[in-house]
Amino acid sequence: MRTQVAIIGSGPSGLLLGQLLQNAGISNVIIERRSPDYVLSRIRAGVLEEGTVSLLHEAGVGKRMDHEGVVHTGVQIAFGGMSRRIDLGKYAEGKTVMVYGQTELTRDLMAARTAAASLTLYDVTDAAIHQPLTDHPYLTFSVNGIKERLDCDYIAGCDGFRGISRDAIPANIRHEYEKIYPFGWLGLLADTPPVSHEIVYGAHERGFSLCSMRSMTRSRYYVEVPLDAKVEDWSDDRFWDELKKRLPEPYSAEIITGPSLEKSIAGLRSFVVEPMQYGRLFLVGDAAHIVPPTGAKGLNLAASDVNYLYRILLKVYREGRIDLLEKYSPLCLDRIWKAERFSWWMTSMLHRMSDNYFDHRMQQAELDYFTGSEEGLRAIARNYVGLPYQDVG
Ligand code: FAD
Ligand code: PHB
Repeated sequence: MRTQVAIIGSGPSGLLLGQLLQNAGISNVIIERRSPDYVLSRIRAGVLEEGTVSLLHEAGVGKRMDHEGVVHTGVQIAFGGMSRRIDLGKYAEGKTVMVYGQTELTRDLMAARTAAASLTLYDVTDAAIHQPLTDHPYLTFSVNGIKERLDCDYIAGCDGFRGISRDAIPANIRHEYEKIYPFGWLGLLADTPPVSHEIVYGAHERGFSLCSMRSMTRSRYYVEVPLDAKVEDWSDDRFWDELKKRLPEPYSAEIITGPSLEKSIAGLRSFVVEPMQYGRLFLVGDAAHIVPPTGAKGLNLAASDVNYLYRILLKVYREGRIDLLEKYSPLCLDRIWKAERFSWWMTSMLHRMSDNYFDHRMQQAELDYFTGSEEGLRAIARNYVGLPYQDVG
């Protein structure tokens, strides 16, 4: 088999890149180690920046999102028995965010790919990257027990944090930076109306909580839990009780509970690999970086990597601009480190980081300062809606 761009992984990064390239007439094949149903069963992100929304429109997959997604002009931060609103429109030059589940977005991208008759090979095993430093890179893998070879011009490693692409960069030139947090998020999805029409981030001495949604009839809630917490120990009742204890009035009184559709625990991590390019191999999305979900940046960073790689490849194929290939990594990393900082800072400000009472008062003062001053609100709002993309040149 031969294609122009071989894509490893059919998460949001791989599917979005594939769709943009396909529309531009650049052939691509995606290989995915899971089944389509498994890919669609992962409940993850919910908040899309305007840059991500525009890129989805550009890829021609914005129709259902425009119809079913909900535009948010503000977010709430609850602490000390009250809730303060961050007016995104006011403090981030009229920008907003869109609440539309990653699962739905993945479903739309998969449908568009099927309609365009682009090839995705699911349930592949033993994927391996070969000769990324030469002009003739290729992948090998097995499907249904048959060994295959896919020759290509470029390889996009969109295979998430546990993929194989990152390790294809030799250890002596690969630098990894990591911070693991001493807690996780227990998430619960329920067919109940959300407690607030805006997302609520809550800081409390019992720990962090988050009230989000997928629609006006489906809620997504999270509570901070210790790293060794087990989902089996968290009945729905225990979850709702704990969430109520962490939220101020009127949320705690008004929350509508119901049976969980899904419950899972995710660890929190900050991670960046440098560089994100090795010859003709490019790392995209979670393959290259992880943020704790507190800033709602993971999926959005994946989209901004896709934006840069797509625009560079377009110029490479249309104008012969191979000089741009080496700009991919620095362009992405500039934005990634800023989103890493915001996600780490939001995490530190909102979670129970230690038992030290001084640390606790520092958090209170920080929350009060940032949610109570124009410059603080502006700093949160501008980062939350997403920093601008740069021109690729
Ligand atoms: P992935 O979605 O991980 O996709 C990688 C794909 O590659 C997978 O399908 C995998 O099966 C496949 N793969 C792996 N290895 C191989 C292999 N060897 N061969 C072939 N295929 C392979 N982000 C936000 O922006 N906003 C949020 O609100 C938000 N909330 C989150 C909440 C939670 C609880 C979690 C866990 C994450 C959240 N995120 C959020 C992060 C977001 O979900 C990820 O950043 C996003 O999924 C990254 O997309 P990706 O395509 O790069 O990687
Ligand atoms: C979600 O809806 O799943 C969600 C929202 C905001 C976040 C993280 C997750 O910061």
